[in-house]
Formats: sequence, structure tokens, C-alpha cells
Amino acid sequence: MKKLLERIKLCKLPPPQRRSLPYECYWEDSILTQEQERIFSNQWLGLGRSDRLENPGEYEVFELCGQALVLIRNQDKELRLYANTCRHRGAKLLDGTGQCQAISCPFHGWTYSLDGNLMHAKTMAENPSFDFEEHSLIEYKLKELQGFLFVFLGNKPTDLSKQLGNFSELHQPWSMNELVTTRRATFEVQCNWKAFLDVFNEYYHLNNVHPTSIDNLYNKPEEADKTTGDFASQFGFTAGTGALLEVDQINALPIMENLEAPWSLGARYSWIFPNMTFAASQEAIWVYEASPITSMSCRIRQSICFPKNTTTLPGFKEKSQSYYQRLDDALDEDIVALENQQKGLNKSTSLQGQFSTLMEANVATFSEWYANKII
Ligand code: FES
Ligand SMILES: [Fe+2]
Repeated sequence: MKKLLERIKLCKLPPPQRRSLPYECYWEDSILTQEQERIFSNQWLGLGRSDRLENPGEYEVFELCGQALVLIRNQDKELRLYANTCRHRGAKLLDGTGQCQAISCPFHGWTYSLDGNLMHAKTMAENPSFDFEEHSLIEYKLKELQGFLFVFLGNKPTDLSKQLGNFSELHQPWSMNELVTTRRATFEVQCNWKAFLDVFNEYYHLNNVHPTSIDNLYNKPEEADKTTGDFASQFGFTAGTGALLEVDQINALPIMENLEAPWSLGARYSWIFPNMTFAASQEAIWVYEASPITSMSCRIRQSICFPKNTTTLPGFKEKSQSYYQRLDDALDEDIVALENQQKGLNKSTSLQGQFSTLMEANVATFSEWYANKII
């Protein structure tokens, strides 16, 4: 077999000739190490939606690309992101989700303000060489754009606006800032993190994997958009809404205010490289963040969001259940396909095939981007 470097060049060919990523990119540990250095520490990473934590002290604990993190709102209602590790001897500070007045370590009781400053550390004031200010929580750079959160885990933050190019312009019709998260879920899938994002972004599997749930809703997509940042985006018309199962179309909620044709007649699938993707339909968006656990497993966080006005409509609670059901059902089908794909990919005899230019456009764009980053 040709060397990895030679095979990865096939991912940079023009789209009609472009090949999928070399298969060891989906299972080899050394590639995951390379991804940590060249991608996850070197790129703003998507963290889902900012509205999910609303009030001072509300927090969410999670892992992203091997880092244990805690996202929390401070007293001024600003979001902060800290390493979830005590500055004394490293104990984990918080678990799950919740709300607190201050962050208190369960081991010896060091207590930090919501701004990450060490406020109490018993007996340490007696030590003249102890400096409270030197023991603040480790904080990461956090930014927000159109309600999406981004973190930079490396030491040299790059320019987020450059990374996102014409993202805002392309997504402006959906009034992303007006959306609220109504359900958030976390789960693990036994596949490489990239495979999860791949399948969400392609139309090619729909009639094989989702023949009776959602396939008939999706028309052949339009040509993918020209993007200037590190993201891919493709719009497609739908028969009804892609956010509900075929059998549940009667439960459709209103189209977003100010959303006009053609956007009100379909769904836009966007992938913000490397790790966050979402679909924007007429009445909702649903977002996935992927993070590797191992080279062959990943943790996925899912959010579904509606315009605030929609969430106050009578019947929203019942109708929104149909939206959650659509996500759950399609996901169950995707997970079977993904875990089966991973079993095939794990064989070192796998070779790179060509993409369907139109139906796998976002995946092909990611492959080229990834190839440029990884070597
Ligand atoms: S490890 Fe946190 S107070 Fe000791
Ligand atoms: Fe799917």
C-alpha cells in the first residue's frame, strides 16, 4: 500500500476526482495524537449554543478533545470556561450540570469565585509565600457568534472571524441569535469522531439508512455553497420539513419569522470544522458537537433549538416531542450504519473511494481541509 502521505494527497484532488480520507485516519491512535496537535489545539472548536446556561452560577461539565472542562455563567451573566481541575492538587471540581454560588473543591475545600479567583484556602493565608492570585482556575478563551460558542484550547489563539469567513452572512436568514435550546442530550458512538460528522453532512446514505423515516422528505440537494472560512454548507429543498418524521408532518411548528424562500422551503446543512455541525430547517435547528474519546469512539452532544416565540405557542410542548422523536429515530438508524462502517474501516485492507460530488459535497470539502491540516 502507498505511504499515508501519498494517499492523503488524493483528498486534495478536485471534487470529481477527490478520494475519502485514508482509512487509518478513522482508527489509528497516532493520527488522533496528530489531530490533537495540529487541529484541536490550533483551531477554534464548537461548543454548541450559549443560551443553554442562563443564570449566574449555572454550569455544565464536559470533556472536549481530552480536556476536562467546566462552562459556567459568572455574576455578570458572562460565560467562562475553565479546566475542571483544582489548582491545589488537581481534584475534579464539578460534575454534570447544576448551579452554584462558588466553585468549591470536594477534596480540601479550596473555593473559587465564578470568575475563577481563589477566595478561600484554609490555613494557606498563614504561609507568607502563598499567593492566592497565582492559584486562579485555568481559563480558556471563549467566543460567541450567532449564539454558537467557540473555545480555543491551544496557546496561540487564531482569529475566529477569519476561521469562520462568510459563515455569518450565509446563515443570517435564520436569525440564529433568537433561538433557544429546548433539549440537550449526550451520547457515545463507537465510531471515529469524523465519521459521525461525515454522515450528518451527506445525502448519499438517506435511502439506504433512512428509507421510511426521513428519506422521502429530502430532495436532491443544491450545489454546495462557496465558503470563505473553515466550514462547508449545502442547502436542499424538502417536501414538508426535514425536522419531522414523514409520519409526523402534521405536527409542524411555524416557519421562523422573516425566513423567506428558498430558505423557508428546505434545510441548510453546515459543518464548522473541525467538530460542530448543524441543520437549519424552516422552524428549528439541530446541532451536534463531536469529540473523540478514542480513535474509534466519540462523544456527541446534541442540541435542538427553536425561536423563542415558537416555544411559547400553545401546544409547543406536545409538538416539540415529535421533533425530538425524529432526531432520536434518525440517529438510531445512523448509529447502526456508523458502527458498521467503523467495523469495515478497522480492516487495514480498506482503500479510499471517490465521493458522490453532489451528495457528499460537505464531506469532500472537509476531507480536503483535513488533509491540509494533518500533513
Ligand atoms: S485538590 Fe482541591 S483543595 Fe486540594
Ligand atoms: Fe443519517
